[in-house]
Amino acid sequence: MKTICFYNHKGGVGKTTLTAAIAGELISEGQKVLLLDTDSQANLTSLFCEGDIQYELADYLFNSKDTALLSKIIRETKYDNLYIIPNKKLSAGGRIDEWARSGAGSKENRNVIPNLMKMIESCKIDFVLIDMPPSYSELDKEILLASDEVIPILKIDTFSVEGIKDFYLLLEKLKDGDSKPEFKKYIFNCKDLRTSMQRTLLEQIENINFKKYIVPTDTIFEKSKASRQLIQAMNGTKTETQKVLSEIAADLMEGK
Ligand SMILES: Nc1ncnc2c1ncn2[C@@H]1O[C@H](COP(=O)(O)OP(=O)(O)OP(=O)(O)O)[C@@H](O)[C@H]1O
Ligand SMILES: [Mg+2]
Repeated sequence: MKTICFYNHKGGVGKTTLTAAIAGELISEGQKVLLLDTDSQANLTSLFCEGDIQYELADYLFNSKDTALLSKIIRETKYDNLYIIPNKKLSAGGRIDEWARSGAGSKENRNVIPNLMKMIESCKIDFVLIDMPPSYSELDKEILLASDEVIPILKIDTFSVEGIKDFYLLLEKLKDGDSKPEFKKYIFNCKDLRTSMQRTLLEQIENINFKKYIVPTDTIFEKSKASRQLIQAMNGTKTETQKVLSEIAADLMEGK
């Protein structure tokens, strides 16, 4: 099993969108994928879960000794081989933020997230894809450290490109000498060559010494959100989008 965390402490860069799209790509390759929504906005949950959410991730976090909860928090989606551990929105009684503030950093809860990953592994899942919130809370740190790989998602804008070095330092500091999570790929999102600013930035991105994936701006993503469908179940995806998503999935499977 490989646990991958799509992260950026900035909002609106495409974390949720690309987590879903990469999950769609992996299941189309026959992989068994579990999505983990750790964002109190619950956008990923909204994409995949209709109706009331009975159990959410926070139910396990607050009662981690109750191992029977695992089978309750994992939900099937309408897609074969795609599962999700959802979140409830705050307005629906969601408690993930409460956990992030109160429990996540405490000594006695140090093993809660690693134990969750171990239990998920026993369910014969190939990939856990984690959709992170735009923050850097104690919970976010625990999740990052329990992941095998972190893949930052950045937008092709000045601040993202300028901030790459700090982003790297932030994650290295968090790892504190540990080998995990691996950090060797970047996804740059929303390429749009009509803007001269992006044309300049893309030249700079070329020089970054990491594996890079460049996802174009594609209206399929808004359509997918509106219809709550995976882009793989829809028509009209740009060839360039499809190509980069296939490449990401192939590389993830190769590294497994
Ligand atoms: N490549 C793309 N082309 C066009 N639209 C995109 C693309 N990527 C993301 N979007 C759109 O950008 C918006 C923000 O994306 P998304 O919600 O995935 O960001 P996020 O990083 O998860 O945000 P948050 O930090 O608030 O959770 C959405 O409306 C999404 O449909
Ligand atoms: Mg999101």
